[in-house]
Order: sequence, then structure tokens, then C-alpha cells
Amino acid sequence: MLLEKHQELITELLSRYPVKRSALLPLLNLAQREEGYVSEAAMKEIAKILDLTPPQVYETATFYTMLNLKPIGKFHIQICKSIMCGLVGSDDLIQWLQNRLGIRVGQTTGDRLFTLSAVECLGSCGTAPMMQINDDYYEQLTAEKVGRVLEDLRREGTSPLKSGPFMFPQPAGSR
Ligand code: FES
Repeated sequence: MLLEKHQELITELLSRYPVKRSALLPLLNLAQREEGYVSEAAMKEIAKILDLTPPQVYETATFYTMLNLKPIGKFHIQICKSIMCGLVGSDDLIQWLQNRLGIRVGQTTGDRLFTLSAVECLGSCGTAPMMQINDDYYEQLTAEKVGRVLEDLRREGTSPLKSGPFMFPQPAGSR
């Protein structure tokens, strides 16, 4: 239960806003950080905390694609499919990722390690093609670089090839 576990943080979040319902997105984000996705139980609890109806919480949770409504893998690969990334090869990379992971976009690998999503512009068009995995950006991608990232994540749980978001100049060796 969110309230039991994060009472202090929730009180602090609520104190930032003149009306309770304004804390809806921060609470949905908190729920996702807790479980990896926003469960129905969490939505009901958030509704209670904010004096909203569960459908009011649900309609917001379903609007934002960055909120996951079902369990996902340990690493959530979100590859950008918008125009700038598309112009420099994101379609091929998506295909390559699907083949390498043995899943389609929207699916999770059998070992629950990777979930693959294709998303709209992540605001890093200047370093396209790019993807976000959990909280990190990986930019100027090639199939070879994506392969290295996957191996790093499998082996170490992190990759030195991450470059952002919004981290300039790029770290040495990130290309
Ligand atoms: S189009 Fe891919 S980051 Fe903007």
C-alpha cells in the first residue's frame, strides 16, 4: 500500500499543491516506481487519497504513455519512432531489436528482462536515432551499439553507453 509505505513523501507531495488532485501525476509516478507499473489497486488507493473517483484516476493514467498499466520487464526499452529518428533508421533498429529479443513491440521477453515499446519523440532529435531504457537515454544508435547495450544490461545491469537525457557534451566513448 502506497500510503503505508510512503506516508511522509505523500504528505510532502500534497503540500506542494493548492488542491489535492494536482498531485495525481506525482502519485501515479510514485506507484509506478514502486511496482514498475500502475496497478488497479494503486489507482484505487490514489483515488481515495485525492478524493477522486477511480475512473478519474484511470482516465489520466491511460492518457500518458509513460505510465505502464501492466507489469513490464526489468529493462523497459522505449525506442523513438517519430520522424527525425525515422529518417535515420529507427524502423530498421526496431526490426533488429524485435529479431534480437525474439519479441514484438509491446511484448516482454520470457525471462522478464526486456520490454520493448516504440514511442513518440523523446526530445532528443539532434542525436537520433535514440532510445530510452528505464531512466537513461542512448543516442546516435546503430545496431552494433544497441547490441552492446543489451549485453551490458544483461551482464552488469547498467551500460556505460548511456548518454542522457540532456547530457552535453556527450561523454567520451558514447558514440
Ligand atoms: S524524433 Fe526521435 S527523439 Fe525526436
